[in-house]
Amino acid sequence: MPALSLPSALADALSTLLGPRGLLTDASDTDTAGQDWRRLYHHPPLAVLRPADTAELAAAVRLCVAHGVAMTPQGGNTSMVGGGVPSGPGEVVISTARMNHIRSVDPVDMTMTLEAGVTLKAAQDAAVAAECLLPLSISSEGTAQIGGVLATNAGGNNTVRYGNARDLVLGLEAVLPDGTIWNGLRRLRKDNTGYCLRQLMVGAEGTLGIITTAVLKLAPALRQRESALCAVPSTEAALALFARFQRHDPAALQAFEYMGGPGMELVMRHIPGAVLPIAPAPHYALVDLATARAGSDLRGVLETVLEAALEDGTVTDAAIAESEAQRLAIWKLREEHAEAQKREGASVKNDVSVPVSRVPELLRRGQEAVAALIPGVRCVAFGHIGDGNIHFNFEQPVGADGAAFLARDHEIMDAVGEIVRDLDGSFSAEHGVGQLKPYMMPDWRGGAELEAMRRIKAAMDPAGLMNPGKVLP
Ligand code: FAD
Ligand code: MLT
Ligand code: ZN
Repeated sequence: MPALSLPSALADALSTLLGPRGLLTDASDTDTAGQDWRRLYHHPPLAVLRPADTAELAAAVRLCVAHGVAMTPQGGNTSMVGGGVPSGPGEVVISTARMNHIRSVDPVDMTMTLEAGVTLKAAQDAAVAAECLLPLSISSEGTAQIGGVLATNAGGNNTVRYGNARDLVLGLEAVLPDGTIWNGLRRLRKDNTGYCLRQLMVGAEGTLGIITTAVLKLAPALRQRESALCAVPSTEAALALFARFQRHDPAALQAFEYMGGPGMELVMRHIPGAVLPIAPAPHYALVDLATARAGSDLRGVLETVLEAALEDGTVTDAAIAESEAQRLAIWKLREEHAEAQKREGASVKNDVSVPVSRVPELLRRGQEAVAALIPGVRCVAFGHIGDGNIHFNFEQPVGADGAAFLARDHEIMDAVGEIVRDLDGSFSAEHGVGQLKPYMMPDWRGGAELEAMRRIKAAMDPAGLMNPGKVLP
């Protein structure tokens, strides 16, 4: 039976170690820490531990292990799969919120060293201040923290150019499940010295230890950016437009995002200040071009490709941002999709990926399959089409009972999953597995792959106290 409150010896030891700012046990704090962003899970922890530094965090882990208490690492708590909240009663949350120092930004090495609790937005801003670019961008960047971003191997809008979070990590420091501190804070571009522990921690979703500090790779600062919102007649047309930009000037594409008409309608309905600069359309593509080179004719690239696309009907209408304010306004329409969908009601998310060329088939077949399952269901598809990663989400039918709709989430996810599998795709492109999708692992990653993961977990966390109930079934 899990404990209903912190064992008193553990409470005393943690209180001495962490002090009043570092140990929260009030119901309001534990309640918030136990609730995920999507409101799918609610298991308030026994306490929220907020260590001030790596040494405190490691000592806290050792105390929890000694008392057999399970731990959930938590960053900004923006996980879409319930990864950052406990999977049951009797756990503690270990928050990195107070470990939020930017240690250094080095424009010669092109690296930055950050503690896990720094928000992604604060890290981006620090890079810009040093005339560099941290090329990772997700809609939750104001809240998501570096530790969480790395633990989930976040993707987002710029993957098409710079890769995922994994591609930006040069070094890590982490506290392993037994409380040992591993310092791998190297800043090397080349380092072939055995198993790559940092890449094992990246994407492990906190099941193999807690990331405390990271060294990230920076890119050159952008000198020019051009963005356009395009109306396109179909998903095939969106893809054709993507291919044209790639052919014309592959180095220019910074992001290429897709949005369906229903999602855009929700943004217009629920997000204050959202303005659509073109007439409503069934499908939209957001094109973002950027360059670090001085004197590039990015506007020329954008206009040349768009003019040809408008001429042959690949694009039916387009608005080019004429100022930074207009550029941000166009991006707001994309970035507020998740929030707008949340405000509309219950939704089932499929964060799936397929080879880029198969996206139109995925969307067509998937919509048909889910509509046959739940008449009146609303398809809200959008996302990183340039990576083949679509947020193939479904909103409850108008007027339906939200809880009853959510109770059918496995049916919906499995119907979409069957098509994704047929198209050689993945059931989780960027959000991870968390506590929502471990049930899918045997089917999708079973056999040698899952067995190897289990052995790694058992070797690193034999007591199974680090983020239990996540990733592995
Ligand atoms: P949390 O939610 O706190 O935790 C996520 C996972 O990481 C959990 O398993 C947790 O235990 C673990 N963890 C947290 N901190 C640490 C640590 N220091 N060490 C080890 N493990 C840790 N994701 C994308 O990839 N791309 C997107 O485009 C995207 N857009 C989003 C938009 C919105 C509006 C929202 C709400 C979410 C979006 N996400 C996206 C999902 C989410 O923001 C990312 O997964 C993000 O990386 C999570 O960061 P976090 O700090 O909030 O982590
Ligand atoms: C995004 O890219 O906005 C998120 O990953 C989306 C979501 O599934 O809601
Ligand atoms: Zn996304």
